[in-house]
Amino acid sequence: MSNVIENILTRRSIRKYTDQQISDEDLKIILEAAKYAPSGGNSQTWHFMVLQNKEKLLQLNGYIKSAFEKLEVDESTYRSIRTGKEASKNDSYNFYYHAPTLIIVSNEADYGNAMADSACAIENMFLVSHYLQIGSCWINQVSWFCNDKSVRTFLTELGVPENHKVCGSICLGYRDGNAPVAKERKENIVTIIK
Ligand SMILES: Cc1cc2nc3c(=O)[nH]c(=O)nc-3n(C[C@H](O)[C@H](O)[C@H](O)COP(=O)(O)O)c2cc1C
Repeated sequence: MSNVIENILTRRSIRKYTDQQISDEDLKIILEAAKYAPSGGNSQTWHFMVLQNKEKLLQLNGYIKSAFEKLEVDESTYRSIRTGKEASKNDSYNFYYHAPTLIIVSNEADYGNAMADSACAIENMFLVSHYLQIGSCWINQVSWFCNDKSVRTFLTELGVPENHKVCGSICLGYRDGNAPVAKERKENIVTIIK
């Protein structure tokens, strides 16, 4: 199996991290991989806000917790948001799993390929991180609450462009413990016509 395919098949979402920060050199490679992702019309309108300041990460965690608190949910609410709200009530709640790095990926709010372009960049970052033995996980909470007043004000202070929406965020760091085993892949999801 080629190294590329093996890297793709063995990447897993990591949800437990050590305190060790990733090196600036590795961060640079990860961001380079993001920049070289494809984008609609080669727009490259994305922005990557790298947050490695523990105090500011915890501050953001506080704003996310408050946003969950304010959020009214019912049975029609997306299940992950409902479970997120429940989890956020716990004092030990930390939406980025205490990873030392969080990268917030944003893109122009009115750009039709914002999400698709950002997802391509995120997957590039996941794969390169895995190659560098750095664990990663997609984190939804920042996109869910990027229009909450307190979250938004803080994101603007941190440098997320005001005309951008948050398309996704990822946490990065070194895995604490074993990687999870890959879940079985679903059958009947491919149609090939020759
Ligand atoms: C769009 C998207 C959003 C996700 N959001 C979260 C999230 O907010 N928190 C989390 O722990 N994992 C999140 N994940 C990770 C998925 O749960 C994970 O990719 C899936 O369970 C498959 O596991 P694997 O990545 O280890 O193969 C997200 C993944 C994607 C693609």
